[in-house]
Order: sequence, then C-alpha cells, then structure tokens
Amino acid sequence: MEKPKLIVDGKRLDGRGFEELRPIKIEVGVLKRADGSCYLEMGKNKIIAAVYGPREVHPRHLQDPSKAVIRYRYNMAPFSVEERKKPGPDRRSVEISKVSREALEPVIMKELFPRSGIDVFVEVLQADAGTRTACLNAASVALIDAGVMMKGIVTAVAVAKVDGQIVLDPMKEEDFYGEADMPVAFLIRNDQIESIALLQMDGRMTVEEVKKGIELAKKGAMEIYRMQREAVMKKYVKEEE
Ligand code: CDP
Repeated sequence: MEKPKLIVDGKRLDGRGFEELRPIKIEVGVLKRADGSCYLEMGKNKIIAAVYGPREVHPRHLQDPSKAVIRYRYNMAPFSVEERKKPGPDRRSVEISKVSREALEPVIMKELFPRSGIDVFVEVLQADAGTRTACLNAASVALIDAGVMMKGIVTAVAVAKVDGQIVLDPMKEEDFYGEADMPVAFLIRNDQIESIALLQMDGRMTVEEVKKGIELAKKGAMEIYRMQREAVMKKYVKEEE
C-alpha cells in the first residue's frame, strides 16, 4: 500500500498534536488469583499484566540464595493483531521479554527476597504500536499492586519521526509508515526521572532528532507516571475507607 500522509494541517491522523499521548486508562487489581495485576489501555492497545510472587522458585536449581529471580513474559494474543499471530513465543516476543525484564530489574529490591521468584506475565489483548512500552507501564503498576518493594517505577513511551516531525506515542500507522520509531523507558524515583532503563530505535534519525525525541519521551513519561500513581492511589485509598 502507498504511504499515506501522516500529518495534515499540523495534526496527526487521529487529530493529535505532535506532543500528545493517546488516551490512557489504568485499572489496578483486576485479577483475583494474581498477587498484583493491572489492566492498561494506551490508545487502542489493551494490556493485562499479572504478577505472581515473591514465591518459591521451581525448579530449585534456578534459585539464587542472595536475591530474587525475576521472570518477565511478554505475549501477544493471536487475536491482538490484524493478521492472526501464531500462538506462543517467537523471536520478537523473546527479545521484548528480555529487554523488559532488564528494564525492570534495577528497580526491584531483589536482595530482600533471596531464593524467591517474581513472575511478571504481560498479555497483549489488542495491539496498535507501542505494546512493549504499554506492557512495561502495566507491569510496573502490577508490581506495586503485588507489594513488591521497589526503588522507583519504570515508565515507558515511544517517540517517532513521521513526515519529518518528532512525535510522541506513535500509533500503528505512524509506526508502520514513519521514518523511525524509538521506545524509551525511564526509571522514575522521587517524582523525578533518574535514568534510562530501555532505549531502542529502528529507522533513521539525526543525533539532534534523537535528543529531541528523548526530551519529548521524558515529558510523556512524566504524564504517564502521574496516571500510574493516581491509579494505584485510587485503589488503595478506596480500600482504606
Ligand atoms: O508494539 P511495539 O511497537 O512495541 O513493537 P513493534 O515490533 O514495533 O510492533 C509494532 C506494532 O506492529 C505492534 O504494536 C502491532 O500493532 C503490530 N504487529 C503486528 O501487527 N503483528 C505482529 N506479529 C507484531 C506486531
């Protein structure tokens, strides 16, 4: 198919400005059997995250006597994408699981839970670009809901270059037809961005554009962070009443 115009009269295809996130919805504690869970929508992305643990690790030889072992599984439901996805892990989901686990590991206080395991399962029910970042946002909230001690929170968002412009939180058409896509995850501590926990890019951008993209991602991440915090507060304040 021929590439459509992605920016018309200074607006994106869905009417957003360059620095605007898609609508976000976050619900905490949606699964009864998980220790922590979160349902998250970011535009048309629909994500469920479930956290189990800290709990005993099986098989036992995988245990670490000094700290908890973290496992993260990103999975796309066969019906989540336009062209049915074959069920089960593929190269893409194995890679996303690995980098996402590595993004989360530094915030989790693993030393507090020797010999135990913390399992994070993230299911993409509907995908529309930016699923790895949306999944990380949901996983962070689910970890908090599970009561896992953390040094901060991981909040993620992608930026893209489309029709020569750097834009926040690209949707499917922008991801597909744009010039570049750059997911970024930040470690946020004491209400401030402390470091970058994940940074990937495909396509091509100038060094200046990458810098601009990171600044834009920081702004977007702070907005998402406030929503993550609000969602957690909403659940726990309500429970206390
Ligand atoms: O989702 P994310 O942007 O983190 O990863 P991606 O590999 O850049 O994929 C971008 C989008 O392509 C996904 O969010 C899906 O909407 C779509 N996709 C798909 O339609 N079928 C797949 N097997 C994988 C991705």
